[in-house]
Amino acid sequence: MSDTLSPIDTAKFVAAKRAVEFVEDGMKLGLGTGSTAFWMVRLLGEMVRNDGLKIVGVPTSTRTAELARQEGIKVISLDEAKWLDLTIDGADEFDAELNLIKGGGGALLQEKIVATASDQMIVISDVSKQVDTLGAFPLPVEVIPFGWQTTKALIEETLVSMDVLGQRTTLRMNGATPYVTDEGNHIIDLHVQRIGNARQLALILNQIPGVVENGLFIDICDVVVIGHGDGRVETH
Ligand code: 5RP
Repeated sequence: MSDTLSPIDTAKFVAAKRAVEFVEDGMKLGLGTGSTAFWMVRLLGEMVRNDGLKIVGVPTSTRTAELARQEGIKVISLDEAKWLDLTIDGADEFDAELNLIKGGGGALLQEKIVATASDQMIVISDVSKQVDTLGAFPLPVEVIPFGWQTTKALIEETLVSMDVLGQRTTLRMNGATPYVTDEGNHIIDLHVQRIGNARQLALILNQIPGVVENGLFIDICDVVVIGHGDGRVETH
């Protein structure tokens, strides 16, 4: 599968390949979203079809649900599963404490619910997402459509009150209209450059009325598998 891939796709593929080695027969899995998670779902599909692997998957987006079904993976809801053995997902940034920014693909809400309901979360990533301090990647915040401009203004005030460097926020667009998540919400991206206290920011953002969830994953990820363009893999 990896022979004709670009270095970036090779990195994503080898990370996914290493991560699926953690999957065991009978597991209930959380299936992440994005271009790295894509490889993980494809590889799991091969294992189901070719090796008779028995798993059920809880997808974190309609995109992943569709792909998983195409791959022959049995898809169930989180309420049916109740609790998961393992979630494998991508990330937009991760730091040395394995805290993450997620939501670049717009699926942060389901991703956080599913990862939190799992015994273990493994992040698969190419090396470019490794950072000393989170925040260069715009932090996605999911907000309900009602009054989103007021919510956006309150988020900006919060960033000012916390002395966060860079206080620009933008409504994520899909062409000429606001982006709509699987849950029918919008996303406001926070261009903060550097997040000094990610734990505090995550808690404070979620106290703003209208904010549904933010893309900071604190103390949720257990392992990061990092792929390199030359095919090397590291596990942290
Ligand atoms: C989607 C996510 C993705 O995991 C994140 O954006 C990484 O995506 P990719 O693997 O395509 O770089 O959080 O909401």
